[in-house]
Amino acid sequence: MLLSHKTEAAWAQDAARRFEHKLRAVRVRSAEKIPSRAVDGVHNNKADGGAYTPDDGLCWWTNGFWAGMLWQAYRMTGDEAYKEVARYTERRLDDCFRSYCGLHHDVGFMWLPSAVADYRLTADGDARRRGLHAASLLAGRFNPAGFIRAWNDIPGSEADTRGWAIIDCMFNIPLLYWASEETGDPRFRKIAMTHADTVAANFVRADGSVRHIVEFDPETGAFVRDYGGQGYAQGSSWTRGQAWGLYGFVMSYKHTGAVRYLAMAEKIAAYFIAHIPADGAIPVDFCQPEEPRWYDDIAAAVAACGLLELADLVPEKQEVYLSPALKMLHRLDDTADWDEGRDGFLCNCSADYHGREHNVNFTYGDYYFLEALLKLTGQGIFLW
Ligand code: GLY
Repeated sequence: MLLSHKTEAAWAQDAARRFEHKLRAVRVRSAEKIPSRAVDGVHNNKADGGAYTPDDGLCWWTNGFWAGMLWQAYRMTGDEAYKEVARYTERRLDDCFRSYCGLHHDVGFMWLPSAVADYRLTADGDARRRGLHAASLLAGRFNPAGFIRAWNDIPGSEADTRGWAIIDCMFNIPLLYWASEETGDPRFRKIAMTHADTVAANFVRADGSVRHIVEFDPETGAFVRDYGGQGYAQGSSWTRGQAWGLYGFVMSYKHTGAVRYLAMAEKIAAYFIAHIPADGAIPVDFCQPEEPRWYDDIAAAVAACGLLELADLVPEKQEVYLSPALKMLHRLDDTADWDEGRDGFLCNCSADYHGREHNVNFTYGDYYFLEALLKLTGQGIFLW
């Protein structure tokens, strides 16, 4: 999307330029890392954690986003150094294929912005093989009762997760769309669409808000119950989940052309827009109490990306979608860490409402912030 409003266009150009300028310094410091966050301004390294720990190592679900940021910057600048650093992640993630046990449905989040991005930009054969391998793993998690299973057994928990699906998976299924587009084999797309239809029927409430976790009977596919998941409570509206739903249905529409997915994205968008606070700062959950003031910049960045896509897809409602997206992105710009000596960008991200990590940095939030800015300047690549 190229902005017609001159002041906004100049701001977006400047923000994207500032982002890339800082990233140029960060990529040197983090060249042999797979960061999931910056702590006290220094990237951590998930590549150090080993491949067998699903919640803390090489198979961590956000491990594709650092590479995604670098591929976006490579597309923006043509600077080969971005490509070299991005490929470090891609090679390291091969250990996850070997370990297998630490993997989950988030293989889309892991390999779309890493290997598939590489393949899209360079036509590299190894990258294509990795993407198709990951897609086959995701397809293998499909339960023919109608949904993709999210997680394996959760260490330390008695929960039976065989029937659990989560809204976030709307962002993993584009890996399946890509695999069908790449191979001509409809199996992957059919699985993705079956899952998306199940989500539309069981996750999206009448008011346009979405549930985080739904448990289905793993034998019949019947709805059993839902859980609040990373949100405030059962029945509440975890903002990042709303954003995954909004932008996720946009992507199902873009890949399939099925207008029911566009309608679903617009329904969730209407709910999201109606709940954006006056200052554009997105809470962790739209139903959370006034205090404590916990925010989630990631939800803002992901939702902004989805709204910018809608502004393109529904030209007669362009302003309806563009204006809240810009509001949230200006807020992110105003509150981001632009110090080139520090590794992270967004400062007000939260892992989940009841967790301990609030108003901190997460690398995947930084990724979506960059993606949104590059959508505005027309310099990005669609990685999903
Ligand atoms: N996909 C998990 C999260 O958004 O935190």
